Amino acid sequence: MAFSSSIPALLLSLLVAILVPNLTLANASVKSSSQLISEVCSKVPNSALCLEVLKSDPRSANADLVGLGRISIDLTKAATKTTSELINSLLNKTSDRRLRGSYDFCSVCYGRAVNDLDDSEKSLSSGKYLELNNFAAAALGENDLCEDNFDVQPEELKEAIQKAGDLCYIILIAFLVHFTSANASLKSSSQLINEVCPKSRNPSLCFQALRSDPRAANADLVGLGNISINLSQDSVQSTSKLIDSLAKKTSDPVLKGKYNSCLENFGDATDSLNESEESLRSGDYASINFSASAASTDAETCQDTFNERPGTGEPEELKQAIQKAEDLCSIILVISNRLSGRPL
Ligand SMILES: *[C@@H]1O[C@H](CO)[C@@H](O)[C@H](O)[C@H]1NC(C)=O
Ligand SMILES: *[C@@H]1O[C@H](CO)[C@@H](O)[C@H](O)[C@H]1NC(C)=O
Ligand SMILES: *[C@@H]1O[C@H](CO)[C@@H](O)[C@H](O)[C@H]1NC(C)=O
Ligand SMILES: *[C@@H]1O[C@H](CO)[C@@H](O)[C@H](O)[C@H]1NC(C)=O
Ligand SMILES: *[C@@H]1O[C@H](CO)[C@@H](O)[C@H](O)[C@H]1NC(C)=O
Ligand SMILES: *[C@@H]1O[C@H](CO)[C@@H](O)[C@H](O)[C@H]1NC(C)=O
Ligand SMILES: *[C@@H]1O[C@H](CO)[C@@H](O)[C@H](O)[C@H]1NC(C)=O
Repeated sequence: MAFSSSIPALLLSLLVAILVPNLTLANASVKSSSQLISEVCSKVPNSALCLEVLKSDPRSANADLVGLGRISIDLTKAATKTTSELINSLLNKTSDRRLRGSYDFCSVCYGRAVNDLDDSEKSLSSGKYLELNNFAAAALGENDLCEDNFDVQPEELKEAIQKAGDLCYIILIAFLVHFTSANASLKSSSQLINEVCPKSRNPSLCFQALRSDPRAANADLVGLGNISINLSQDSVQSTSKLIDSLAKKTSDPVLKGKYNSCLENFGDATDSLNESEESLRSGDYASINFSASAASTDAETCQDTFNERPGTGEPEELKQAIQKAEDLCSIILVISNRLSGRPL
């Protein structure tokens, strides 16, 4: 879809966060469903489609915002499944290897999108709007991934992809509005996450980690800093355990040596993160910058041990664990710089 294809999925939430302050659906409960539909649809990229599908659905006549959300999710899921079936039938008809590869890829994306939409339905039922927003954004991201993976998008598919994406926007926008007007404290933590994560080393991981953490729901910046430190500590500790078990398993003396020096690095990282925690507690935000970057450097030093001589058999699992620890530490850095008044 033209509107989102140039916008990475990650930025989507930012975009929506920018839109939200302009959307006031206070008094949502006293509004008629047709008023709600007009308001929601005036804010999405494809207003005409939004009005058409919501107004023509018999369930919308007496629906409140949650009801409309449920309908939007339903319609989006149906469109996503239709698109997925179309892709499978196109896949069946083509012998072009490249195109088959693209269809295969899309097929996987849409499979995940349907799961995301199922999850968003569950979040809606349990009133977890922040989570709902995540899942809808993920489904839209899958749609964009499919769309962007073609050299030239097949004509037969354009409309279906566009529609699935346009419907997804209704869920996103309707619900961000809902939970932001209902619960201002959620809005601020979600806005903070939107500001912090794009500046970190791995925005996807950052969004995923912070948004899925129940403690983040009402957190201010100090709270998010606390959570980031905790997540980094957990990651550093589990990496230490992994290294320890790898060291015990190998009989290769070179590899054992590398693991042992990594264990020291990760021990240092644990200490540094404890210092970060202490600095946060005492309000010494400027110091966090140093201790958190020391922890990150320790993890990097361990990785370097394996980079020195390629082919020394670093397990992929370890490489990813180290990477994750560094990525999480970088969230602390972004937050601490912001807390101490430095530019993000
Ligand atoms: C909400 O509705 C009530 C009754 O209709 C009205 O008095 C009040 O001003 C409305 N508030 C907002 C923020 O629109
Ligand atoms: C693919 O084509 C075969 C034979 O033409 C058919 O039996 C099968 O049902 C088709 N599958 C799909 C997903 O269309
Ligand atoms: C906002 O959400 C939090 C956590 O979900 C909840 O504890 C709080 O009561 C909510 N506030 C309002 C006004 O709904
Ligand atoms: C991180 O927080 C969790 C949940 O509060 C806690 O169980 C865990 O021990 C903490 N990790 C560290 C390293 O403090
Ligand atoms: C650092 O923190 C961890 C978890 O909070 C704790 O187990 C450990 O004892 C602390 N280490 C030091 C040196 O304070
Ligand atoms: C961090 O969180 C823990 C509980 O998870 C809490 O005991 C501690 O006071 C928090 N620290 C700060 C600085 O908010
Ligand atoms: C601390 O923050 C400053 C300003 O953002 C930055 O230039 C510096 O590199 C940071 N120091 C560390 C150790 O990360």
